[in-house]
Amino acid sequence: MAKKFYITTPIYYVNDVPHVGHAYTTLAADVIARYCRQKLSKENVFFLTGTDEHGANVAQAAAKHGKTPKEYADEVSPRFQEAWKLLDIEPDYFIRTTDPRHKKIAQEVLQKIYDKGYIYSGDYEGWYCIGCEKFLTESDLIDGKCPLHPTREPVYQKEKNYFLKLKELSQQVLKRIEQGEYHILPEKRHNEIVTRVKQGVEDISISRAGVSWGIPVPWDKTQTIYVWVEALFNYYTATQFIEGKQKFWPPNLHLMAKDILWFHSVIWQALLIAAGLELPKTIFAHGFFTIDGQKMSKSLGNVISPEQLVNTYGVDGTRYLLLSAYQFGSDGDLSLAKFTERYNADLANGLGNLIARTAKVSSGVTLSKHLNITFENVSTDEYKKALEQYRFQDALAFIWEKIKFADKLVDDNEPWKLKGKDLEEFIQRVIPHIQEIATLLLPFLPQTAEKILEQFKGPTIVSQPALFPRIQ
Ligand code: MSP
Repeated sequence: MAKKFYITTPIYYVNDVPHVGHAYTTLAADVIARYCRQKLSKENVFFLTGTDEHGANVAQAAAKHGKTPKEYADEVSPRFQEAWKLLDIEPDYFIRTTDPRHKKIAQEVLQKIYDKGYIYSGDYEGWYCIGCEKFLTESDLIDGKCPLHPTREPVYQKEKNYFLKLKELSQQVLKRIEQGEYHILPEKRHNEIVTRVKQGVEDISISRAGVSWGIPVPWDKTQTIYVWVEALFNYYTATQFIEGKQKFWPPNLHLMAKDILWFHSVIWQALLIAAGLELPKTIFAHGFFTIDGQKMSKSLGNVISPEQLVNTYGVDGTRYLLLSAYQFGSDGDLSLAKFTERYNADLANGLGNLIARTAKVSSGVTLSKHLNITFENVSTDEYKKALEQYRFQDALAFIWEKIKFADKLVDDNEPWKLKGKDLEEFIQRVIPHIQEIATLLLPFLPQTAEKILEQFKGPTIVSQPALFPRIQ
Protein backbone atom coordinates (compact mmCIF):
# COMPACT_ATOMS: atom_id res chain seq x y z
CA MET A 1 0.00 0.00 0.00
CA ALA A 2 1.16 3.54 -0.78
CA LYS A 3 2.68 5.68 1.98
CA LYS A 4 -0.07 8.27 1.71
CA PHE A 5 -3.65 7.83 0.64
CA TYR A 6 -5.89 10.44 -0.97
CA ILE A 7 -9.49 9.36 -1.43
CA THR A 8 -12.43 11.32 -2.87
CA THR A 9 -16.18 11.00 -3.37
CA PRO A 10 -18.15 12.88 -6.02
CA ILE A 11 -19.11 16.35 -4.90
CA TYR A 12 -22.89 16.27 -4.75
CA TYR A 13 -25.27 18.72 -6.43
CA VAL A 14 -26.97 21.07 -4.01
CA ASN A 15 -30.21 20.96 -5.97
CA ASP A 16 -31.11 17.88 -3.94
CA VAL A 17 -30.86 17.11 -0.22
CA PRO A 18 -28.74 14.13 0.84
CA HIS A 19 -30.29 10.72 0.31
CA VAL A 20 -29.13 7.17 0.80
CA GLY A 21 -27.47 7.13 -2.66
CA HIS A 22 -25.08 9.91 -1.66
CA ALA A 23 -24.64 8.30 1.75
CA TYR A 24 -23.69 4.95 0.19
CA THR A 25 -20.64 6.28 -1.67
CA THR A 26 -19.54 8.59 1.14
CA LEU A 27 -19.83 5.83 3.71
CA ALA A 28 -17.74 3.49 1.57
CA ALA A 29 -15.09 6.22 1.33
CA ASP A 30 -15.21 6.71 5.10
CA VAL A 31 -14.57 3.00 5.74
CA ILE A 32 -11.57 3.04 3.41
CA ALA A 33 -10.28 6.28 4.96
CA ARG A 34 -10.60 4.83 8.47
CA TYR A 35 -8.87 1.63 7.39
CA CYS A 36 -6.03 3.65 5.81
CA ARG A 37 -5.72 5.82 8.94
CA GLN A 38 -5.24 2.64 10.99
CA LYS A 39 -2.53 1.45 8.62
CA LEU A 40 -0.76 4.66 7.62
CA SER A 41 -1.63 7.00 10.52
CA LYS A 42 -3.99 9.94 10.38
CA GLU A 43 -1.63 12.51 8.83
CA ASN A 44 -1.02 10.31 5.80
CA VAL A 45 -4.64 10.10 4.75
CA PHE A 46 -6.71 12.77 3.03
CA PHE A 47 -10.42 12.11 2.56
CA LEU A 48 -12.22 14.76 0.54
CA THR A 49 -15.93 15.23 -0.14
CA GLY A 50 -18.09 18.29 -0.77
CA THR A 51 -20.78 19.96 -2.84
CA ASP A 52 -21.07 20.94 -6.50
CA GLU A 53 -22.83 24.29 -6.49
CA HIS A 54 -22.79 25.88 -9.95
CA GLY A 55 -24.71 25.29 -13.16
CA ALA A 56 -28.16 25.64 -14.65
CA ASN A 57 -29.69 22.86 -12.57
CA VAL A 58 -28.79 24.51 -9.25
CA ALA A 59 -29.84 27.94 -10.57
CA GLN A 60 -33.25 26.54 -11.56
CA ALA A 61 -33.76 24.81 -8.20
CA ALA A 62 -32.87 28.05 -6.39
CA ALA A 63 -35.29 30.08 -8.52
CA LYS A 64 -38.06 27.61 -7.72
CA HIS A 65 -37.46 28.32 -4.03
CA GLY A 66 -37.32 32.08 -4.60
CA LYS A 67 -33.63 32.23 -3.65
CA THR A 68 -30.44 33.32 -5.36
CA PRO A 69 -28.26 30.34 -6.30
CA LYS A 70 -25.72 31.26 -3.62
CA GLU A 71 -28.37 31.60 -0.90
CA TYR A 72 -29.78 28.27 -1.91
CA ALA A 73 -26.35 26.59 -1.94
CA ASP A 74 -25.60 28.08 1.50
CA GLU A 75 -28.77 26.43 2.76
CA VAL A 76 -28.35 22.99 1.20
CA SER A 77 -24.59 22.42 1.46
CA PRO A 78 -24.66 22.22 5.30
CA ARG A 79 -27.34 19.54 5.01
CA PHE A 80 -24.69 17.28 3.47
CA GLN A 81 -22.20 18.12 6.19
CA GLU A 82 -24.83 17.33 8.84
CA ALA A 83 -25.75 14.05 7.17
CA TRP A 84 -22.11 12.91 7.19
CA LYS A 85 -21.78 13.88 10.83
CA LEU A 86 -24.92 11.95 11.65
CA LEU A 87 -23.52 8.83 9.98
CA ASP A 88 -20.17 9.24 11.73
CA ILE A 89 -18.50 9.91 8.39
CA GLU A 90 -15.37 11.95 8.99
CA PRO A 91 -13.94 13.60 5.88
CA ASP A 92 -10.72 15.57 6.34
CA TYR A 93 -12.18 18.40 4.30
CA PHE A 94 -15.52 19.42 2.81
CA ILE A 95 -15.09 21.48 -0.34
CA ARG A 96 -17.69 23.84 -1.81
CA THR A 97 -17.18 24.93 -5.41
CA THR A 98 -18.38 28.44 -4.56
CA ASP A 99 -15.25 28.84 -2.42
CA PRO A 100 -13.28 31.71 -4.04
CA ARG A 101 -10.05 29.73 -3.61
CA HIS A 102 -11.49 26.89 -5.69
CA LYS A 103 -12.65 29.38 -8.33
CA LYS A 104 -9.23 30.98 -8.64
CA ILE A 105 -7.30 27.73 -9.04
CA ALA A 106 -9.91 26.25 -11.41
CA GLN A 107 -9.43 29.31 -13.63
CA GLU A 108 -5.66 28.96 -13.49
CA VAL A 109 -5.74 25.31 -14.55
CA LEU A 110 -8.13 26.02 -17.40
CA GLN A 111 -5.97 28.91 -18.55
CA LYS A 112 -2.98 26.58 -18.63
CA ILE A 113 -4.86 24.09 -20.81
CA TYR A 114 -5.88 26.96 -23.11
CA ASP A 115 -2.32 28.28 -23.33
CA LYS A 116 -1.12 24.83 -24.33
CA GLY A 117 -3.47 24.92 -27.31
CA TYR A 118 -5.93 22.22 -26.22
CA ILE A 119 -8.94 24.54 -26.30
CA TYR A 120 -10.49 26.27 -29.32
CA SER A 121 -13.57 28.32 -30.00
CA GLY A 122 -16.45 26.86 -32.03
CA ASP A 123 -20.20 26.68 -32.41
CA TYR A 124 -22.23 24.20 -30.45
CA GLU A 125 -25.54 22.93 -31.68
CA GLY A 126 -27.42 20.12 -30.01
CA TRP A 127 -29.52 18.81 -27.14
CA TYR A 128 -28.66 19.53 -23.52
CA CYS A 129 -30.20 17.85 -20.44
CA ILE A 130 -30.19 20.24 -17.49
CA GLY A 131 -30.86 17.36 -15.07
CA CYS A 132 -27.66 15.60 -16.15
CA GLU A 133 -25.84 18.86 -16.92
CA LYS A 134 -24.64 17.29 -20.14
CA PHE A 135 -25.06 17.33 -23.90
CA LEU A 136 -26.93 14.41 -25.37
CA THR A 137 -26.58 12.99 -28.86
CA GLU A 138 -29.64 12.01 -30.93
CA SER A 139 -28.91 8.38 -30.07
CA ASP A 140 -28.95 9.14 -26.31
CA LEU A 141 -32.55 10.37 -26.56
CA ILE A 142 -35.49 8.01 -26.12
CA ASP A 143 -38.66 9.41 -27.71
CA GLY A 144 -36.92 12.77 -27.73
CA LYS A 145 -36.33 12.68 -23.93
CA CYS A 146 -33.35 12.09 -21.70
CA PRO A 147 -33.69 8.50 -20.39
CA LEU A 148 -32.64 9.63 -16.88
CA HIS A 149 -34.89 12.71 -16.77
CA PRO A 150 -37.96 11.84 -18.86
CA THR A 151 -40.06 14.56 -17.22
CA ARG A 152 -37.63 17.34 -18.15
CA GLU A 153 -37.53 18.43 -21.78
CA PRO A 154 -34.01 18.50 -23.19
CA VAL A 155 -33.10 21.98 -24.40
CA TYR A 156 -31.91 22.58 -27.97
CA GLN A 157 -28.91 24.87 -27.84
CA LYS A 158 -26.99 26.75 -30.46
CA GLU A 159 -24.26 28.96 -29.11
CA LYS A 160 -20.61 29.89 -29.29
CA ASN A 161 -18.60 27.68 -26.92
CA TYR A 162 -15.04 26.72 -26.19
CA PHE A 163 -14.14 23.13 -27.02
CA LEU A 164 -11.60 20.75 -25.54
CA LYS A 165 -9.65 18.65 -28.05
CA LEU A 166 -10.93 15.45 -26.49
CA LYS A 167 -10.66 13.46 -29.70
CA GLU A 168 -6.90 14.00 -29.77
CA LEU A 169 -6.46 13.71 -25.99
CA SER A 170 -8.50 10.49 -25.81
CA GLN A 171 -5.72 8.68 -27.68
CA GLN A 172 -3.34 9.61 -24.87
CA VAL A 173 -5.97 8.60 -22.33
CA LEU A 174 -6.23 5.18 -23.97
CA LYS A 175 -2.46 4.77 -24.00
CA ARG A 176 -2.20 5.62 -20.31
CA ILE A 177 -4.99 3.14 -19.45
CA GLU A 178 -3.36 0.41 -21.51
CA GLN A 179 0.05 1.08 -19.95
CA GLY A 180 -1.55 0.70 -16.52
CA GLU A 181 -0.77 4.26 -15.47
CA TYR A 182 -4.18 4.34 -13.86
CA HIS A 183 -6.78 1.68 -13.25
CA ILE A 184 -10.50 1.65 -13.84
CA LEU A 185 -12.29 -0.79 -11.58
CA PRO A 186 -14.18 -3.13 -11.53
CA GLU A 187 -12.72 -4.89 -14.60
CA LYS A 188 -16.10 -4.84 -16.34
CA ARG A 189 -16.13 -1.02 -16.23
CA HIS A 190 -12.56 -0.87 -17.51
CA ASN A 191 -13.62 -2.90 -20.54
CA GLU A 192 -16.66 -0.69 -21.17
CA ILE A 193 -14.59 2.49 -21.09
CA VAL A 194 -11.83 1.11 -23.33
CA THR A 195 -14.40 -0.07 -25.88
CA ARG A 196 -16.13 3.30 -25.88
CA VAL A 197 -12.88 5.25 -26.33
CA LYS A 198 -11.86 2.94 -29.20
CA GLN A 199 -15.21 3.56 -30.90
CA GLY A 200 -14.21 7.21 -31.22
CA VAL A 201 -14.62 10.30 -29.09
CA GLU A 202 -15.66 13.77 -30.23
CA ASP A 203 -14.36 17.08 -28.90
CA ILE A 204 -16.54 18.46 -26.11
CA SER A 205 -17.78 21.89 -25.21
CA ILE A 206 -16.26 23.09 -21.94
CA SER A 207 -17.94 26.47 -21.55
CA ARG A 208 -21.45 27.93 -21.53
CA ALA A 209 -22.61 31.20 -23.01
CA GLY A 210 -26.08 31.14 -21.49
CA VAL A 211 -25.36 30.06 -17.90
CA SER A 212 -24.36 32.94 -15.68
CA TRP A 213 -24.23 30.87 -12.43
CA GLY A 214 -20.69 29.60 -12.83
CA ILE A 215 -17.01 30.48 -12.83
CA PRO A 216 -16.07 32.89 -15.65
CA VAL A 217 -13.79 31.56 -18.39
CA PRO A 218 -10.58 33.45 -17.55
CA TRP A 219 -9.82 34.66 -21.09
CA ASP A 220 -13.45 35.37 -22.07
CA LYS A 221 -15.66 36.67 -19.29
CA THR A 222 -18.80 36.37 -21.44
CA GLN A 223 -18.68 32.60 -20.84
CA THR A 224 -18.67 30.41 -17.73
CA ILE A 225 -16.75 27.16 -17.31
CA TYR A 226 -18.94 24.10 -17.95
CA VAL A 227 -19.97 22.95 -14.47
CA TRP A 228 -18.65 19.41 -14.88
CA VAL A 229 -15.16 20.59 -15.85
CA GLU A 230 -14.90 22.94 -12.91
CA ALA A 231 -16.38 20.32 -10.54
CA LEU A 232 -13.77 17.75 -11.55
CA PHE A 233 -11.08 20.31 -10.82
CA ASN A 234 -12.15 20.25 -7.14
CA TYR A 235 -10.05 17.15 -6.55
CA TYR A 236 -6.99 19.18 -7.51
CA THR A 237 -7.89 22.66 -6.20
CA ALA A 238 -8.49 21.32 -2.66
CA THR A 239 -4.94 19.97 -2.50
CA GLN A 240 -3.62 23.37 -3.55
CA PHE A 241 -5.50 25.73 -1.25
CA ILE A 242 -5.66 23.65 1.94
CA GLU A 243 -2.47 24.01 3.85
CA GLY A 244 -0.21 20.97 3.87
CA LYS A 245 -2.22 18.96 1.35
CA GLN A 246 -0.07 19.49 -1.77
CA LYS A 247 1.80 16.28 -1.02
CA PHE A 248 -1.40 14.29 -1.53
CA TRP A 249 -1.59 14.89 -5.28
CA PRO A 250 -2.37 12.67 -7.24
CA PRO A 251 -5.42 10.93 -5.72
CA ASN A 252 -5.10 7.24 -4.91
CA LEU A 253 -8.79 6.57 -5.29
CA HIS A 254 -11.75 8.35 -6.85
CA LEU A 255 -14.99 6.65 -5.77
CA MET A 256 -18.34 7.17 -7.51
CA ALA A 257 -21.21 5.26 -9.07
CA LYS A 258 -21.16 4.12 -12.68
CA ASP A 259 -23.37 7.03 -13.81
CA ILE A 260 -20.44 9.42 -13.77
CA LEU A 261 -17.56 7.09 -14.62
CA TRP A 262 -17.04 8.50 -18.13
CA PHE A 263 -16.46 11.96 -16.70
CA HIS A 264 -13.94 10.59 -14.19
CA SER A 265 -12.11 8.04 -16.29
CA VAL A 266 -11.87 9.88 -19.62
CA ILE A 267 -12.76 13.59 -19.49
CA TRP A 268 -10.99 14.21 -16.17
CA GLN A 269 -7.89 12.32 -17.30
CA ALA A 270 -7.84 14.25 -20.60
CA LEU A 271 -7.99 17.56 -18.71
CA LEU A 272 -5.12 16.45 -16.45
CA ILE A 273 -2.99 15.31 -19.36
CA ALA A 274 -3.66 18.65 -21.09
CA ALA A 275 -2.71 20.55 -17.93
CA GLY A 276 0.45 18.45 -17.50
CA LEU A 277 -0.61 17.07 -14.11
CA GLU A 278 -0.04 13.58 -12.74
CA LEU A 279 -2.97 11.18 -13.06
CA PRO A 280 -4.97 9.60 -10.21
CA LYS A 281 -4.16 5.95 -9.52
CA THR A 282 -7.55 4.24 -9.36
CA ILE A 283 -11.07 5.11 -10.41
CA PHE A 284 -13.64 2.79 -8.86
CA ALA A 285 -17.25 2.90 -10.01
CA HIS A 286 -19.74 1.06 -7.85
CA GLY A 287 -23.19 0.04 -9.02
CA PHE A 288 -26.59 1.64 -8.70
CA PHE A 289 -29.15 0.33 -6.29
CA THR A 290 -32.90 0.20 -6.54
CA ILE A 291 -35.37 0.29 -3.63
CA ASP A 292 -37.56 -2.82 -3.51
CA GLY A 293 -36.79 -3.36 -7.17
CA GLN A 294 -37.71 0.18 -8.23
CA LYS A 295 -35.61 3.16 -9.21
CA MET A 296 -35.34 5.55 -6.25
CA SER A 297 -37.14 8.74 -7.27
CA LYS A 298 -39.06 11.65 -5.85
CA SER A 299 -42.00 10.95 -8.12
CA LEU A 300 -42.31 7.39 -6.77
CA GLY A 301 -41.95 8.75 -3.23
CA ASN A 302 -39.46 6.03 -2.28
CA VAL A 303 -36.42 8.20 -1.58
CA ILE A 304 -34.77 7.11 1.68
CA SER A 305 -32.96 9.71 3.79
CA PRO A 306 -29.97 9.03 6.04
CA GLU A 307 -32.03 10.28 9.07
CA GLN A 308 -34.76 7.75 8.39
CA LEU A 309 -32.24 4.89 8.51
CA VAL A 310 -30.41 6.19 11.56
CA ASN A 311 -33.70 6.64 13.44
CA THR A 312 -34.59 3.01 12.86
CA TYR A 313 -31.24 1.17 12.92
CA GLY A 314 -28.87 3.56 14.69
CA VAL A 315 -25.67 4.95 13.20
CA ASP A 316 -23.65 1.74 13.16
CA GLY A 317 -26.70 -0.34 12.25
CA THR A 318 -27.12 1.85 9.15
CA ARG A 319 -23.43 1.61 8.30
CA TYR A 320 -23.52 -2.17 8.57
CA LEU A 321 -26.74 -2.64 6.62
CA LEU A 322 -25.69 -0.43 3.71
CA LEU A 323 -22.29 -2.01 3.18
CA SER A 324 -23.36 -5.62 3.69
CA ALA A 325 -26.46 -5.41 1.47
CA TYR A 326 -24.68 -6.47 -1.72
CA GLN A 327 -21.16 -6.58 -3.10
CA PHE A 328 -19.64 -3.14 -3.66
CA GLY A 329 -19.17 -2.68 -7.41
CA SER A 330 -22.29 -4.58 -8.49
CA ASP A 331 -25.80 -3.23 -8.87
CA GLY A 332 -28.06 -4.12 -5.97
CA ASP A 333 -31.39 -3.68 -4.28
CA LEU A 334 -32.15 -2.21 -0.88
CA SER A 335 -35.27 -3.04 1.08
CA LEU A 336 -36.27 -1.88 4.53
CA ALA A 337 -37.91 -5.24 5.26
CA LYS A 338 -34.62 -7.02 4.53
CA PHE A 339 -32.71 -4.40 6.54
CA THR A 340 -34.83 -5.15 9.61
CA GLU A 341 -34.39 -8.89 9.15
CA ARG A 342 -30.63 -8.59 8.82
CA TYR A 343 -30.42 -6.10 11.68
CA ASN A 344 -32.09 -8.60 14.00
CA ALA A 345 -30.12 -11.59 12.74
CA ASP A 346 -26.61 -10.13 12.44
CA LEU A 347 -26.58 -7.24 14.89
CA ALA A 348 -29.15 -7.89 17.64
CA ASN A 349 -28.73 -11.68 17.75
CA GLY A 350 -25.25 -11.99 16.30
CA LEU A 351 -22.81 -9.36 17.49
CA GLY A 352 -25.02 -7.78 20.19
CA ASN A 353 -25.92 -11.06 21.82
CA LEU A 354 -22.33 -12.33 21.85
CA ILE A 355 -21.17 -9.16 23.60
CA ALA A 356 -24.03 -9.18 26.10
CA ARG A 357 -23.63 -12.78 27.19
CA THR A 358 -19.84 -12.62 27.33
CA ALA A 359 -20.01 -9.50 29.49
CA LYS A 360 -22.60 -11.14 31.71
CA VAL A 361 -20.53 -14.25 32.49
CA SER A 362 -17.37 -12.15 32.83
CA SER A 363 -18.70 -9.64 35.32
CA GLY A 364 -16.98 -9.96 38.64
CA VAL A 365 -13.94 -11.72 37.14
CA THR A 366 -10.63 -9.81 37.14
CA LEU A 367 -8.53 -10.18 34.01
CA SER A 368 -4.95 -11.11 34.76
CA LYS A 369 -3.17 -11.40 31.40
CA HIS A 370 -2.12 -8.28 29.56
CA LEU A 371 -3.52 -8.53 26.05
CA ASN A 372 -1.77 -6.92 23.14
CA ILE A 373 -4.43 -6.61 20.47
CA THR A 374 -3.67 -4.03 17.79
CA PHE A 375 -5.09 -3.45 14.34
CA GLU A 376 -1.85 -4.59 12.74
CA ASN A 377 -1.64 -7.90 14.54
CA VAL A 378 -5.26 -8.93 14.01
CA SER A 379 -6.03 -7.76 10.47
CA THR A 380 -5.10 -10.87 8.52
CA ASP A 381 -4.39 -11.03 4.80
CA GLU A 382 -7.89 -12.18 3.95
CA TYR A 383 -9.47 -9.16 5.67
CA LYS A 384 -6.90 -6.72 4.30
CA LYS A 385 -7.19 -8.04 0.78
CA ALA A 386 -10.97 -7.72 0.88
CA LEU A 387 -10.75 -4.10 2.05
CA GLU A 388 -7.95 -3.17 -0.33
CA GLN A 389 -10.05 -4.53 -3.19
CA TYR A 390 -13.13 -2.71 -1.87
CA ARG A 391 -15.02 -5.95 -1.18
CA PHE A 392 -16.76 -4.64 1.93
CA GLN A 393 -19.27 -7.45 2.04
CA ASP A 394 -16.45 -10.02 2.13
CA ALA A 395 -14.55 -8.11 4.83
CA LEU A 396 -17.71 -8.06 6.95
CA ALA A 397 -18.41 -11.74 6.27
CA PHE A 398 -14.88 -12.46 7.51
CA ILE A 399 -15.65 -10.67 10.80
CA TRP A 400 -19.00 -12.41 11.13
CA GLU A 401 -17.28 -15.80 10.79
CA LYS A 402 -15.25 -14.80 13.83
CA ILE A 403 -18.41 -13.79 15.65
CA LYS A 404 -19.90 -17.22 14.93
CA PHE A 405 -16.73 -18.89 16.14
CA ALA A 406 -16.74 -16.95 19.42
CA ASP A 407 -20.44 -17.68 19.86
CA LYS A 408 -19.77 -21.38 19.45
CA LEU A 409 -16.98 -21.16 21.98
CA VAL A 410 -19.50 -19.78 24.47
CA ASP A 411 -22.16 -22.36 23.55
CA ASP A 412 -19.75 -25.29 23.79
CA ASN A 413 -18.25 -24.28 27.12
CA GLU A 414 -21.48 -23.23 28.86
CA PRO A 415 -19.61 -20.73 31.04
CA TRP A 416 -22.74 -19.97 33.09
CA LYS A 417 -22.20 -23.41 34.62
CA LEU A 418 -18.51 -22.76 35.38
CA LYS A 419 -17.05 -21.42 38.60
CA GLY A 420 -13.72 -20.23 40.04
CA LYS A 421 -10.57 -21.10 38.09
CA ASP A 422 -12.48 -22.80 35.24
CA LEU A 423 -14.59 -19.74 34.67
CA GLU A 424 -11.57 -17.47 34.81
CA GLU A 425 -9.71 -19.62 32.30
CA PHE A 426 -12.63 -19.54 29.93
CA ILE A 427 -12.93 -15.76 30.15
CA GLN A 428 -9.22 -15.36 29.41
CA ARG A 429 -9.76 -17.51 26.34
CA VAL A 430 -12.83 -15.83 24.94
CA ILE A 431 -11.96 -12.17 25.50
CA PRO A 432 -9.12 -11.97 22.96
CA HIS A 433 -11.65 -13.10 20.35
CA ILE A 434 -14.00 -10.31 21.35
CA GLN A 435 -11.19 -7.76 21.22
CA GLU A 436 -10.10 -9.02 17.82
CA ILE A 437 -13.65 -8.73 16.48
CA ALA A 438 -13.98 -5.17 17.84
CA THR A 439 -10.64 -4.13 16.35
CA LEU A 440 -11.59 -5.44 12.92
CA LEU A 441 -14.90 -3.62 13.19
CA LEU A 442 -13.23 -0.23 13.76
CA PRO A 443 -13.45 1.06 10.16
CA PHE A 444 -17.04 -0.14 9.75
CA LEU A 445 -18.76 0.44 13.11
CA PRO A 446 -16.48 2.92 14.86
CA GLN A 447 -18.74 3.75 17.82
CA THR A 448 -19.66 0.13 18.54
CA ALA A 449 -16.08 -1.06 18.18
CA GLU A 450 -14.83 1.60 20.60
CA LYS A 451 -17.56 0.73 23.10
CA ILE A 452 -16.67 -2.97 23.02
CA LEU A 453 -12.95 -2.30 23.35
CA GLU A 454 -13.62 -0.06 26.32
CA GLN A 455 -15.98 -2.57 27.94
CA PHE A 456 -13.53 -5.49 27.61
CA LYS A 457 -10.26 -3.77 28.30
CA GLY A 458 -10.29 -4.92 31.93
CA PRO A 459 -9.24 -5.45 34.56
CA THR A 460 -12.94 -5.88 35.39
CA ILE A 461 -15.78 -6.22 32.93
CA VAL A 462 -19.22 -4.76 33.47
CA SER A 463 -22.47 -5.46 31.57
CA GLN A 464 -23.74 -2.55 29.45
CA PRO A 465 -27.09 -1.83 27.79
CA ALA A 466 -27.75 -3.82 24.59
CA LEU A 467 -25.71 -2.54 21.62
CA PHE A 468 -28.44 -3.36 19.13
CA PRO A 469 -31.91 -3.65 20.70
CA ARG A 470 -34.14 -5.97 18.70
CA ILE A 471 -36.60 -4.35 16.29
CA GLN A 472 -40.10 -5.85 16.33
N1 MSP B 1 -22.14 16.76 -9.06
C1 MSP B 1 -21.93 15.56 -9.78
C2 MSP B 1 -20.59 14.94 -9.41
C3 MSP B 1 -19.39 15.81 -9.66
S1 MSP B 1 -17.93 15.06 -9.14
C4 MSP B 1 -16.71 16.00 -9.75
C5 MSP B 1 -23.03 14.56 -9.46
N2 MSP B 1 -23.69 14.75 -8.31
S2 MSP B 1 -24.91 13.83 -7.79
O1 MSP B 1 -25.41 14.54 -6.64
O2 MSP B 1 -25.83 13.53 -8.82
O3 MSP B 1 -24.25 12.52 -7.25
C6 MSP B 1 -24.08 11.35 -8.06
C7 MSP B 1 -23.52 10.26 -7.18
O4 MSP B 1 -24.43 9.97 -6.08
C8 MSP B 1 -23.33 8.89 -7.83
O5 MSP B 1 -22.17 8.79 -8.61
C9 MSP B 1 -23.26 8.03 -6.59
O6 MSP B 1 -22.03 8.23 -5.96
C10 MSP B 1 -24.37 8.60 -5.73
N3 MSP B 1 -25.67 7.97 -5.98
C11 MSP B 1 -26.84 8.62 -6.22
N4 MSP B 1 -27.86 7.71 -6.33
C12 MSP B 1 -27.39 6.45 -6.18
C13 MSP B 1 -27.96 5.15 -6.26
N5 MSP B 1 -29.28 4.94 -6.45
N6 MSP B 1 -27.13 4.08 -6.14
C14 MSP B 1 -25.78 4.25 -5.93
N7 MSP B 1 -25.22 5.47 -5.86
C15 MSP B 1 -25.99 6.60 -5.95
O7 MSP B 1 -23.20 13.62 -10.22
